[in-house]
Amino acid sequence: MSTMRNITVPADASRLPMTLPRLAEKKRLGEPLVMVTAYDYPSALAVDKANVDLVLVGDSGAMTVLGYPSTVAVELDELLVLAKAVRRGLTTPFLVGDLPFGSYEVSDEQAVQTAFRFIKEAGCDAVKLEGGGEVSVARARAIVQAGIPVMGHVGLTPQTSTALGGYRAQGRTAEAATEVARQALALQAAGCFSIVFEAIPSAVAEAVMPKMDALVIGIGAGPATDGQVLVFHDLLGIREGRGARFVQRYADILDEMVAGVAAYAQDVRTHRYPRPDHGYSIPDEELAAFKATLQD
Ligand code: KIV
Repeated sequence: MSTMRNITVPADASRLPMTLPRLAEKKRLGEPLVMVTAYDYPSALAVDKANVDLVLVGDSGAMTVLGYPSTVAVELDELLVLAKAVRRGLTTPFLVGDLPFGSYEVSDEQAVQTAFRFIKEAGCDAVKLEGGGEVSVARARAIVQAGIPVMGHVGLTPQTSTALGGYRAQGRTAEAATEVARQALALQAAGCFSIVFEAIPSAVAEAVMPKMDALVIGIGAGPATDGQVLVFHDLLGIREGRGARFVQRYADILDEMVAGVAAYAQDVRTHRYPRPDHGYSIPDEELAAFKATLQD
């Protein structure tokens, strides 16, 4: 074990690559699963060192690292670049790639081809797709049948948030909760190894859990799920504003980044950086010879 800021991180010896059987065993033992997003090499190094169980290259990267106003615009090739960088920074966590909007809905063939790209080109272990309607369930089944593990995602599904009436909690009436449960069970029946429950009442998640053999990862779904996921930039404060109700901040990295760059800027402007010891030397005779060439 090593201890950082009073946080215990298991030592390397106890770290085996995370696999589907090991994840299922954790569920069986009631050990909470830890999932977090990552979008590049440094964030992958950080989550790997922190020893999380699963890493999601979320399409939330559209907003957190690519600056789009929503997740809708991000292209498959853009997410693949992020996923490849994350792969290079990970050792043991189970890596899930998020299928972006428009990359899987058109046909089973499109969905399977997109999923293959995440596995073959980016080295992901599984893919995630949003929604539990007829189309998403059919695409999940097709990808599973092609041999690729699929994580579903119900409740608030940001790719189709316009149709859901915006970024708002789902399943808050008996009818809506029944629909969330129906979608989760349909994805499970299609073969999904895991399902994200996003922004649904804690009591609804708790009531559905006894029916779930798949690993349920919650985000704004209360404590009853098998695990939790948060967006890297939300939990570390690498963004402005508080974010959704379910976000808990564990650091204020954006403030640290601004302070660091501002200190550098001030040092440059006041001639405190660079100092003599930041520079390289040249033997006196070489310098003299060089200066002589400038006088020609
Ligand atoms: O893209 C994402 O980050 C997600 C998680 C919030 C589950 O889908």
